[in-house]
Amino acid sequence: MAAKTEPPLLFLHVVMLSILSLQITASPEAQAEALVKWKSTLSALPPRSPLTLWSLANLNNLCNWTSIGCDATGTVSEITVSGANLSGTLAHFNFTPFLNLTRFDLSHNYLTGPIPSEIGRLTELQYVSLLDNHLDGKIPYQITNLQKVHYLDLGSNLLLNSDWSKFSAMPLLTNLSFYNNYGLTSGFPGFILDCHNLTFLDLSYNKFNGTIPPKISHLSKLKYLHLGDNQFSGLIPEDIGVLFNLQTIGLFNNSLEGRIPSSIGKLKGLSRLDLFMNSLNSTIPYEFGFCTNLKLLDLSENSFTGEIPLEIGLLTKLNYLYMYYNQLSDSIPSEIGNLKELLHLELSNNQLSGPIPQTVWNLTNLQVLQLFSNNLNGSIPSEIGKLTNLQALILFSNNLNSTIPPEIGNMGSLQQLEIGNNQLEGELPDTISRLGNLRIITLM
Ligand SMILES: *[C@@H]1O[C@H](CO)[C@@H](O)[C@H](O)[C@H]1NC(C)=O
Ligand SMILES: *[C@@H]1O[C@H](CO)[C@@H](O)[C@H](O)[C@H]1NC(C)=O
Ligand SMILES: *[C@@H]1O[C@H](CO)[C@@H](O)[C@H](O)[C@H]1NC(C)=O
Ligand SMILES: *[C@@H]1O[C@H](CO)[C@@H](O)[C@H](O)[C@H]1NC(C)=O
Ligand SMILES: *[C@@H]1O[C@H](CO)[C@@H](O)[C@H](O)[C@H]1NC(C)=O
Ligand SMILES: *[C@@H]1O[C@H](CO)[C@@H](O)[C@H](O)[C@H]1NC(C)=O
Ligand SMILES: *[C@@H]1O[C@H](CO)[C@@H](O)[C@H](O)[C@H]1NC(C)=O
Ligand SMILES: *[C@@H]1O[C@H](CO)[C@@H](O)[C@H](O)[C@H]1NC(C)=O
Ligand SMILES: *[C@@H]1O[C@H](CO)[C@@H](O)[C@H](O)[C@H]1NC(C)=O
Ligand SMILES: *[C@@H]1O[C@H](CO)[C@@H](O)[C@H](O)[C@H]1NC(C)=O
Ligand SMILES: *[C@@H]1O[C@H](CO)[C@@H](O)[C@H](O)[C@H]1NC(C)=O
Repeated sequence: MAAKTEPPLLFLHVVMLSILSLQITASPEAQAEALVKWKSTLSALPPRSPLTLWSLANLNNLCNWTSIGCDATGTVSEITVSGANLSGTLAHFNFTPFLNLTRFDLSHNYLTGPIPSEIGRLTELQYVSLLDNHLDGKIPYQITNLQKVHYLDLGSNLLLNSDWSKFSAMPLLTNLSFYNNYGLTSGFPGFILDCHNLTFLDLSYNKFNGTIPPKISHLSKLKYLHLGDNQFSGLIPEDIGVLFNLQTIGLFNNSLEGRIPSSIGKLKGLSRLDLFMNSLNSTIPYEFGFCTNLKLLDLSENSFTGEIPLEIGLLTKLNYLYMYYNQLSDSIPSEIGNLKELLHLELSNNQLSGPIPQTVWNLTNLQVLQLFSNNLNGSIPSEIGKLTNLQALILFSNNLNSTIPPEIGNMGSLQQLEIGNNQLEGELPDTISRLGNLRIITLM
């Protein structure tokens, strides 16, 4: 008898239970319970943890719990627990009561384990940061269900490759970072190319490979493009210059070859261009001269040939100019003396010849002047004494001949003087004894 009536009763029971739980999913009680339950799975909290107030005894004050934000109806809409030394996993975080959550920020903690795919149910989320934890596993493709998200930062974790083909575009996304995961080893994730509102994209410090897709030029709002320290190869997309909002391009430490597209000259707002450590092997396009907002230009450790275009002298806002370890030849253009804001000028390890332009000695803000291992000749003039901010003067392995002028004693900031392997004559002037900061001297 009992055996016959049991199944329907049990069924009813299950139905009622699930109706009950549906009703309470979004209630403050259910939210409080979920938070407290998750808290209990975390390792010992520090004495002044923001989670101290998270307690069912304090249920009536849910909206006043530290790190919690509520909407007008008194339900939790924001969870922001950043830099709180949380250690544990997200495995026991119940996402169900938080379907209306707009902000989820657990950045700068010690969370481990994977990102649960259930996060994809919180479709009201606008801001998600799990930056700087120890999360691992694949990034769940369900995260792209978050169609309202505008900020998504999964940087500095241990996340692995994901099935990017299952990811869909997030139309409102403006800031996306997978920075510094090291484990992401695939071609450029295609879905990113359809996130047309992106202004900030950071894939740097991973192992992404293949070419940088030319379609990247469709991300017309892009201001910051960080792809450095990956394994990208092939050419820099020819059309990069259509991204006229770009302020930063970081492509350092990849395997890019060929030339810098001349369209670069259209990027009037560009302030940092970092192409350090690639295999670029063209001449330096004169169109750089149009990028008049550049503050940092790093072309070092490539295979650039030919001369330094004299249009470089138009980049009057430059603070850092790095072209060391290339195959640049001819003389240094005297126009370089227009770059009055220069702090670092590093052209070492090229085949530059002729004299150091007289105009260089007018760059009185210079802190570092490295021209070693070239074929520079001529003299070191007395005007060098004007470089009173210079900390490092590194000119060894050239063909400089002359005596070292006594005015070198005016360079009160000098810490490092390396001028050996030239044809310099005479003794070091006595004035050198005035240089109280000098720590490294090599004259041989
Ligand atoms: C989400 O918000 C809407 C509108 O404020 C409300 O009708 C709905 O019940 C909420 N859902 C949950 C799960 O909190
Ligand atoms: C939160 O705290 C403030 C004062 O700190 C109080 O006025 C307010 O009523 C509290 N709100 C809730 C929901 O407990
Ligand atoms: C986290 O731990 C560090 C180092 O132990 C400590 O200085 C800091 O105050 C802690 N922060 C919190 C919110 O507990
Ligand atoms: C960008 O976001 C705005 C809202 O901020 C939206 O109206 C627009 O459709 C989005 N653009 C694209 C190309 O998705
Ligand atoms: C998103 O990126 C923009 C640059 O496009 C930046 O100004 C902004 O601070 C970033 N947003 C956040 C929340 O970091
Ligand atoms: C990119 O890396 C993946 C994983 O290491 C590899 O299977 C694939 O062949 C690489 N693709 C290219 C173009 O190097
Ligand atoms: C360049 O990237 C490789 C990994 O792709 C890394 O091992 C190496 O340390 C990086 N080099 C520099 C100078 O950053
Ligand atoms: C640059 O390098 C690529 C690949 O090694 C080579 O095919 C090309 O001919 C080189 N271009 C120049 C101008 O040297
Ligand atoms: C250096 O600057 C001074 C003062 O601005 C100027 O008179 C002189 O011509 C400049 N010298 C060189 C070589 O550019
Ligand atoms: C420097 O070298 C160039 C050839 O590169 C030569 O024409 C010039 O006379 C040399 N000048 C001095 C001062 O040695
Ligand atoms: C430096 O070398 C040039 C060309 O060889 C020569 O004309 C000049 O006299 C030399 N200067 C000094 C100070 O030895």
